[in-house]
Amino acid sequence: MKKIIMDVDTGSDDALAIMLAILSKKLEVEAICSVEGSRPAENAADNTLRVLHLLNREDIPVYKGCTAPMVKSIYKDRLNIWEERYRPEYPIRERVRFHIDFDYLEPSEAGYQNITALEFYLDYLRRSEEKVTIVATGPLTNIGMLLRAEPRVVDRIEEIVVMGGGYDISNVSSSAEANFWRDPEAASIVINSGCNVLLVPLDATHKAYITAAEADVIEKTGNDIAAFAAKLIRQRILAHNISQPLEEPESAAIHDALALCYLLDPEVLRDVREVHCEIGLRDFSDGQTIIDPRYYDEQHNCRFAFSADRKRFIDLVTETFRKSAEVIS
Ligand code: BDR
Ligand code: CA
Repeated sequence: MKKIIMDVDTGSDDALAIMLAILSKKLEVEAICSVEGSRPAENAADNTLRVLHLLNREDIPVYKGCTAPMVKSIYKDRLNIWEERYRPEYPIRERVRFHIDFDYLEPSEAGYQNITALEFYLDYLRRSEEKVTIVATGPLTNIGMLLRAEPRVVDRIEEIVVMGGGYDISNVSSSAEANFWRDPEAASIVINSGCNVLLVPLDATHKAYITAAEADVIEKTGNDIAAFAAKLIRQRILAHNISQPLEEPESAAIHDALALCYLLDPEVLRDVREVHCEIGLRDFSDGQTIIDPRYYDEQHNCRFAFSADRKRFIDLVTETFRKSAEVIS
């Protein structure tokens, strides 16, 4: 079975990715590391632990990761206003969230491990005999730090599957996707590390949206896990409707789940091309995904999924949740 480490900022769609990884029974989840992103690293670790408790998989260790990006100093002022931004006096567009902490799920007694995500990665990768795949669905801070601390780990990593970036689509600024915008330097380090990197950007995830009717079908498979999955999808639909409407009404992009599903069925991604990608590091280009358009440039540093097969993705997600009752019991 393929061994994976997940690096998450859980997070609604991160939670769906975690559930799919575990429920598929096709991947061995070695550990989950949190990182500051959609939620603070501490909350992301706690949210992850609650999901593992729901799935009865608290044997999977959770490590708290970096609490700020590698370089960006404006981050704390601009983004770490988690609660402030959602106060009632703010317009509704600001207040409806894609990501809410999972306080309504039972807490886990496991707690996160007492070493940091960076310490875990270094130790694990030095000792592991097999190569491991990393699925990163938050800012790339932990992995950027890892590659700076010990560049030789590149040889121990099979592939890094990253949800991040956007060629024709952005979501957090006029030029950038959220995960890359939050830590552009880390994204740049990972993409240029020499690792086998696959980017699953907004161009692909927006093609693989899930509708409210499809969330109902998932819920009807009838257990707590499927109900939680449907709840997360509906939360995302609400947020999309208000702040980022998609072409298809009453639907949501489930970005991180698509990235994970690539490991279950690579055909969910379409138009995957070797490209040379750089990340903008300042001003209007901050966090921008810059794909070199020169066809004669062969200095490719990653693969980039320009599209996705929506039906294949939905069928995989629905079937995995349908089977979840049997898998968990
Ligand atoms: C990415 O940002 C986060 O909000 C989501 O979880 C996803 O990883 C989409 O831009
Ligand atoms: Ca995420």
